[in-house]
Amino acid sequence: MFRLAHVTDPHFRGFDGARVGDFLGKRAVGVLNLVVNRRRKHKMELLDALGQDLRDQNPDHLALTGDLSNVSLDAEWRAALRWIEAFAGGPDATTVIPGNHDAYVPEVVASGAFEALFGGYQTHDAASFAGDATATEQRRGSYPFVRLRGPLALVALNSCVATGDLGAWGEIGAEQLSKVEAALTSPPVRSRRRIVLLHHPPVHHKGGEDRNLKDRKALSDLLVRVGADPVLHGHDHQDENATLLGPNGSSIPVVGAGSASYAGGAERRARYNIYEFDAGGVTMIVRAHDEASDIFREVRRVRMA
Ligand SMILES: [Fe+2]
Ligand SMILES: [Fe+2]
Repeated sequence: MFRLAHVTDPHFRGFDGARVGDFLGKRAVGVLNLVVNRRRKHKMELLDALGQDLRDQNPDHLALTGDLSNVSLDAEWRAALRWIEAFAGGPDATTVIPGNHDAYVPEVVASGAFEALFGGYQTHDAASFAGDATATEQRRGSYPFVRLRGPLALVALNSCVATGDLGAWGEIGAEQLSKVEAALTSPPVRSRRRIVLLHHPPVHHKGGEDRNLKDRKALSDLLVRVGADPVLHGHDHQDENATLLGPNGSSIPVVGAGSASYAGGAERRARYNIYEFDAGGVTMIVRAHDEASDIFREVRRVRMA
């Protein structure tokens, strides 16, 4: 049996080393939101409790699907990195992709700071993906990356761009989509269970286009055409389920996990998922924070296929 944990949207906090000049434009709005809302809604102590539970559960691999930060500050990402180093396996046993909050500022995205810090968690094993002409596109070109782990092939996408507005929308882009198709159909990937990781849901669940994946139809059409099993995402801070019809009558589960640090009611409270892959299929286990006992415990178990 191979066990994959999926943690998303921790929204780590940290301001060390930030300068006044860092808090302009969208970041100023984001920091205001952080002080007024997120400080109350997302509790860092829940991440410690989750980390301890994760360590006890000892999965074979951890997938972290973005929004590690709030406003793409180096101190926020370093807090995330410390958490990963404390509670997760090493870089070979942990995969990290960005969320829209990790692509908050165009200059930071262009600098490749996220990839510089988490590059060890983004190495790819199969089907080399060549870079492009400009520096930014070269980094952009490093997605998707593919990691072969046990019976799984993890195909990790970047759905996050510096939006240039206050929106939380995402976009995969035609070029990345063609590489995703090439990756999903390449022999070493095809012969394994293909897990697609991205931050934004590839289907519509809630909200308007200012917070959703712009080219989700192109991505879901691709998935329907070539298959995947399952697709894991975050972004909506709540458990979500959808099914796409794949090739040859197969079904593609699309599963969103709630935020790892959310301090609200039991339905959405801080949580993560563990997938147990065995010869007959996969079992999804939801582990969530129990406010009364202050520990994480299993709240749901679903046999998927
Ligand atoms: Fe988030
Ligand atoms: Fe997000």
